[in-house]
Amino acid sequence: MTAASRGTNVRIAGWGKFAPARVMDNHEIEKLVDTSDEWIRARTGIVERRIAAPDETTGTMAVAAGRIALAMAGVDPSELDLVIVATGTPDFLNFPATGSVVQDALGATRAGGFDVGAGCGAFGYGLVIGSQFIQNGALRNVLVVGSDVMSRVIDWTDRGTCILFGDAAGAVLLQATDKPGGLLSFVLGSDGCGGPKLFIPAGGSSKPASHETVEAREHFLKMEGREVFRFATQAIPGSILEALGKAGLGTDDLDLVIPHQANSRIIDHARKKLNLPPEKVFSNLDRYGNTSSASIPVALCEALEQGRIQENDVVAMCAFGAGLCWASAIWRWN
Ligand code: ACO
Repeated sequence: MTAASRGTNVRIAGWGKFAPARVMDNHEIEKLVDTSDEWIRARTGIVERRIAAPDETTGTMAVAAGRIALAMAGVDPSELDLVIVATGTPDFLNFPATGSVVQDALGATRAGGFDVGAGCGAFGYGLVIGSQFIQNGALRNVLVVGSDVMSRVIDWTDRGTCILFGDAAGAVLLQATDKPGGLLSFVLGSDGCGGPKLFIPAGGSSKPASHETVEAREHFLKMEGREVFRFATQAIPGSILEALGKAGLGTDDLDLVIPHQANSRIIDHARKKLNLPPEKVFSNLDRYGNTSSASIPVALCEALEQGRIQENDVVAMCAFGAGLCWASAIWRWN
């Protein structure tokens, strides 16, 4: 790792996304479980999602997204100081960290690498963590990637969860800059007593893998959908308002909100609580479903591609998920 020589502001200097080529639409899910395209669209807003090929992993997708972000910023992998991979579906159970896998595949020979795990909130945490290294002057170039292969931890016999998720990766290259703006404020929160509402019971050290856990399908994600829904509709507006307050701003100052893409009804509830018009809240849920750690960086990439973010705009990003946890960040685009 090398120390930053100038600047204590952080900017997003490059961004990139990767989604597997294979598209699975709702009609295909109709053949797996007792559901319908109409129900899924009405209750979630999802039309289709991407599914990783057998040789695609959290690491390979993160590398693909990361390369695009680096190329856009004109940063050679050898200039990277740190690689942070936000994920709930690491290539290995942290031996080694996917951050190290990605660091190696990118050829980021001088960078450190590690993972951040916080359910679907992980990218929000990773973004704030990466920014701290730059704002305190320690590092210059930090790659933060959100990548998840949710299709591998979903129970494809459970209609309450399998309709929701998809696979993807999104990356941002955080860079030290003299330009004012960047990360203005953040809120990181956790309510761990809600853990059992959204969890994978087995495979960790509290319940190691065994024939019994496999037979009981305990390596798949379990969710109390209604409870998580209720939590999310409070966490998004609550944490955004708190973060705005820390930055000395209000909802009128917001140019765009990029919430975690979990369910269009959740996003709509949150938007109404924040009293924002639809055009100020970004959503691409229809084409990707919930891609967990990838959802915010992929949405950010698409918002930028569509010209929805301009210089000096105030952008709120809000991640939430298993933990239960949440992470909101307010950026002035620089
Ligand atoms: N197709 C058809 N019917 C269904 C389906 C389905 N896929 N799933 C549930 N139903 C049925 C239920 O069985 C129930 O039937 P009943 O009334 O006869 O009992 C009925 O539909 C209503 O069920 P609810 O669970 O109340 O449906 P709800 O409107 O809450 O929608 C959903 C379910 C979509 C899961 C919703 O609760 C949700 O989005 N929750 C939040 C999920 C989420 O965001 N998770 C990710 C968080 S981020 C992370 O860290 C992973």
